[in-house]
Parts: sequence; structure tokens; C-alpha cells
Amino acid sequence: MAKHKIAWLPGDGVGNDVMEATRIVLDKIGLDAEYIHGDIGWEFWCSEGNPLPDRTIELLRNTDCCLFGAITSKPKEEAQRELAPELQNKSLTYYSPIVAIRQMFDLYTNMRPCKAYPGNPLNYRDGIDLIVFRENTEGLYSGVEFHPLPKSIMEALSIHPKMKKFSDVPLEDIALSCRIFTRKGCQRIVRSAFEYAKKTGRKTVTVVEKPNVVRETSGLMVREARKIAQEYPDIELWETNIDAMAMWLIKNPLDYGVLVTSNMFGDIISDLCGQLVGGLGFASSANIGDDYGLFEPTHGSAPKYAGQYKVNPMAMFITTKLMLEYLEETEAAQHLEAAIAAVIKEGKVKTYDMGGTSTTLEVGQEVARKLG
Ligand code: IPM
Ligand code: MG
Repeated sequence: MAKHKIAWLPGDGVGNDVMEATRIVLDKIGLDAEYIHGDIGWEFWCSEGNPLPDRTIELLRNTDCCLFGAITSKPKEEAQRELAPELQNKSLTYYSPIVAIRQMFDLYTNMRPCKAYPGNPLNYRDGIDLIVFRENTEGLYSGVEFHPLPKSIMEALSIHPKMKKFSDVPLEDIALSCRIFTRKGCQRIVRSAFEYAKKTGRKTVTVVEKPNVVRETSGLMVREARKIAQEYPDIELWETNIDAMAMWLIKNPLDYGVLVTSNMFGDIISDLCGQLVGGLGFASSANIGDDYGLFEPTHGSAPKYAGQYKVNPMAMFITTKLMLEYLEETEAAQHLEAAIAAVIKEGKVKTYDMGGTSTTLEVGQEVARKLG
């Protein structure tokens, strides 16, 4: 039996291209693993009315971790239109399978490293080495939303004086998305960030919220961060508002190391951080809970490039490095990162986004060569 059982979910579009390149790399590493393919994504929404079939959830339950490519999502009307004819009018609604998995498996830490590898022509500035810890299961992604607003909810909310100004608005003209934070949710993401800072010798953790306006939710996150920071006397806690953070990251990106924030702010700021180190072709991420880990590049499925082996697989390779660390294959992780860094530094084999003409698979082969 193989040492590691890995769910292999390429998903849609270029997810397949980058995962194929990843296999070249993993085979070269010779990881003692069994890779088990799982169905997920748009194709299964269209044909089965469910982008995340039960058999895939079962597969995740029976594996150690998951490597995930990319998923196509489309707005409500389009999703409805593309459903198989026999599934029309069955009141099926599309949902994001990745968000569903994060919540179902309680993968509360979304870790997004953004490191400027030397020689990458797309680096905004050399020396950037940021990592975003994004809360991954609650906040604005809780999925508690209403439109129209049910009367009972309106009545319950009416105890709040600020609701007065909405009292004459027809219920069908009000949409509500709840930003739910729990103390536990705040504590565990902040703790993940501090633990990481401690392990890697970082000197600061910056909590990125907006407690001056969103006083209760952002306030809870910052208050819990202050308490947890006391357990880590060698690490300084910085507090920065999300809007200012966007500005500071452009102005002085080298000042920051570990950022910790809630779900939606983390979604936004991690795209910004990704762009500082080469954009989507380099943005990796790990979704980690107490019992499971799912590893995915931050990029989407880029349908127009699907099957063309054009896109940069580096994000997927860096993601694979995160998976190897999770599996405690530390040496393999280090070798892989060194090979990635060497290929970037040499700058000979590179995809179009870096000004090259190499294919996705050629980049995989080159990284594999460096591993040898
Ligand atoms: C991300 C993506 C997802 C998110 C989408 C695809 C649902 O933007 O992982 O950052 O919003 O979390
Ligand atoms: Mg995003």
C-alpha cells in the first residue's frame, strides 16, 4: 500500500493542464503515493445537477489530502441554462464546490504564500515574502443570505435602531448577506498565523480588518488577536485596516510578513499579494483543517486556454510543495521548491505570462530535470 492516499481533482479547464504537468514533477520526486481521480466541476453540474457529487465527497473522506486544479463558476442564469434538459425546472441551484468543501471539511486555514522568486521578471519588487492567513469557513462566505428578506427576519432585525431607515423598503427590495464571525473562528485563524510565524521565525503578524467601522465582527477578530498575541512575546502584532493595507502593500511590500484576516478580506488581499509576485501563475494556496488538507492554486479554470498547455503551472507546483509539507515530506518539499526557484532564476523555460513560449508541460519537464 502506498504511504499517502491523495485525491486527484483536476476540475475544469486549465486545471487539467496544470495537474498533468504536476504529475510529471511528482513522478520524478517518486512520492510514495496513490493518486485517486475524483469528479468535480462544471461538467457535473451540467450533467448531474451537482458540481460536487457525493462519490467525490466520499473520496475526500477516504484520502489523506487533496490536490485540486480549478473550477468554472458562472452566474445564476447561465448556470441554469447549461443544465441538461432533463434537469431543468427541478429547482437545482449552482453552488461553489470549493467553498462547500472548505466548510464541509472545516478547512479553516487558507494559507496563501506570496514570495518573489529571484529572477522572476513579473516580480513587483525583489524580496517580497508575504503569507496571507485567510479565515476560510465563515464571515461573508457563511452562505446565510436572503432575498427577498423574510418578514420574520425583518421583524427580528427591527430591534436594532439602525434598521429604522429600511422599515419602509419592500421586503423584495432588500438583500441581506450575513457576515458571521465566531470567537472560535477568529481564535483559530489567528493562532494558525502566529504558529506559522513562530515556526518560521517571522517577527510580526498583521491583523487586517476594519474595526473602526465594522465594529462587532472585525472588532472581535482584532480583540482576539490581541489576546492570542500575548502568548507569543517574540512576535509583534500589528493592526492595519484593510483599505490602508492595500495601499501599504503597494507602497512598502517588504515591511510585511504574515497577514491574518477574515474570509472576504483575505480573498481580496490575497489576489493583491499574488500580483506582487507574478500574478495568478504564482499564487498558491493550502486549505487546512484539523483532519484534512486541500491544496489548490488560486487561479481559475481560464476556459479560453483549456487544453492548450499554455498557462503557467508554477502556482500548481508551489501548491504541491505546500502539500508535501502537509504530508511531512519535508525534504521532498525543499527539493521541489529549490527546483522551482532554479527554473525561474535561469529564465530559459517559461510560459507566455513570463515572456516565454514554453508549454505548461515543458515547464513541468524542466522542473523535473532540476529535481534530478
Ligand atoms: C479563491 C477564489 C474562490 C473564493 C472562488 C472561486 C469561490 O476566488 O479561492 O480565492 O472566493 O474563495
Ligand atoms: Mg479569490
